[in-house]
Amino acid sequence: MAGGFIEKGSSEKNYPGKLTLRVFITCVTAAFGGLIFGYDLGISGGVTSMDPFLKKFFPDVYAKEHNIKPTDNQYCKFDSQVLTLFTSSLYLAALVASIFASKVTRAFGRRLTMISGGVLFLAGAALNGFAQQVWMLIVGRMLLGFGIGCANQSVPIYVSEVAPYKYRGALNMLFQLAITIGIFVANILNYLFAKMENGEGWRYSLGLAGVPAIMIIIGAMFLPDSPNSLIERGQAEKAKEELIKIRGTNDVDEEFKDLVAASEASKQVKHPWSSLLKSEYRPHLTMAIAIPFFQQLTGMNVITFYAPVLFKTIGFGGTASLMSAMITGGCNALATLVSIFTVDKVGRRKLFLEGGAQMFICQLVIAAAIGSKFGTDGNPGVLPKWFALTVVVFICVYVAGFAWSWGPLGWLVPSEIFPLEVRSAAQSVNVSVNMIFTFAIAQVFTSMLCHMKFGLFIFFAFFVIVMSIFIYKFLPETKGVPIEEISLVWENHPYWNKFVKSSAQKNKIAAPDSQV
Ligand code: BGC
Repeated sequence: MAGGFIEKGSSEKNYPGKLTLRVFITCVTAAFGGLIFGYDLGISGGVTSMDPFLKKFFPDVYAKEHNIKPTDNQYCKFDSQVLTLFTSSLYLAALVASIFASKVTRAFGRRLTMISGGVLFLAGAALNGFAQQVWMLIVGRMLLGFGIGCANQSVPIYVSEVAPYKYRGALNMLFQLAITIGIFVANILNYLFAKMENGEGWRYSLGLAGVPAIMIIIGAMFLPDSPNSLIERGQAEKAKEELIKIRGTNDVDEEFKDLVAASEASKQVKHPWSSLLKSEYRPHLTMAIAIPFFQQLTGMNVITFYAPVLFKTIGFGGTASLMSAMITGGCNALATLVSIFTVDKVGRRKLFLEGGAQMFICQLVIAAAIGSKFGTDGNPGVLPKWFALTVVVFICVYVAGFAWSWGPLGWLVPSEIFPLEVRSAAQSVNVSVNMIFTFAIAQVFTSMLCHMKFGLFIFFAFFVIVMSIFIYKFLPETKGVPIEEISLVWENHPYWNKFVKSSAQKNKIAAPDSQV
């Protein structure tokens, strides 16, 4: 059994597999799944700030935005529930899809789930690109959401399973890198398409979502299934062959034995969903809920979705707003590289805590800057250049803080801390909670800005403190721990050890069938 011969307190397994080209290409291809998510996160904010789009589908919002006088309350000029529903409906669909995707990933493998995600996303992109009426937009958004639910359910666990454990952090973060590249590309395209004279630029912005969808479909067709998933589906021989190929060595017996044992233990668990409620999975369930909840409560998506709107609110023109959104999008992608290169060296906890401190300081500065000019009546008069510049700089530093902490770690950590028997179910909880709060933030942001004004940034700063304390006290370090050995980090944790079953107890369960 995995962990059976490991001394307590050390997880020092040393599987010999290296970072092969095959595993690298496999992980890059899988990470394309992040592109479709990122493209969508980045595209809607820009599209909803394009006048021809608003005139065609949301004429009331258009009229309201254009009738507002400079002396009116600027905090409230974009407050429209219908418009935000366009952005947020997708995340509700993703939430539903991720629950079904858990069954598909377990029964048919991670790969098929990725392909299904790509196909749904492609259909959604086509419907949106050719939309004539609001219902086409909404149905299209829902199809995109189903696609994202499938991709986000399967990609992070797939990558964590095929990556050699020493590089698991960096390889998994390719998923987040792909998300940020998707967002950045969407920002650039919005900027370019908004200038199209025929007013049809939004069609291109929405329709081009089909490109990352095609990339993931084609990529996933050539991907091997993960050894863990093959074993889970009774194909042990094939799993071993695959393990030899991805590790680039024949010396995989020990890792293979542990994989089989982990799989045997997981077969004892017939109902992963209800098992998650048992006390032995309390730490896992807590993390599957808390990490995505806190990730969204950093307030990052206020920037992702509404940077153009936010920049317009603080007095930028239409083009300058899209341009600034592009700058913050670029910072996001670049700063993600920092975590890729450091996560397996400095570990997850340090990045979480540093990123938290950085975001907290920036949020306070942004709140103070906006508060000092806009006050509570949202009427700033003429804004000096230095003001706009200060806000953009601090937003970039804030985004960088997120990009090397909660952004990538919000997907990496959940994908590596669950034992195989509940991995798919727990990952679905993770994706669902992420989507619920992505939905909530997208839906209520404009209204929160209207009511809480600059205090909105203080609200998010408060949560950053809470989440940093949570990480400090409750999250064990998982750097360099093989995924089959992950139970040890819980067994050795001063708080969680009383909940989890020890390796020895699990050994007893797995022992009868573990000789393959
Ligand atoms: C989050 C998204 C966010 C993105 C920004 C992802 O990890 O899940 O909600 O928009 O990072 O880069």
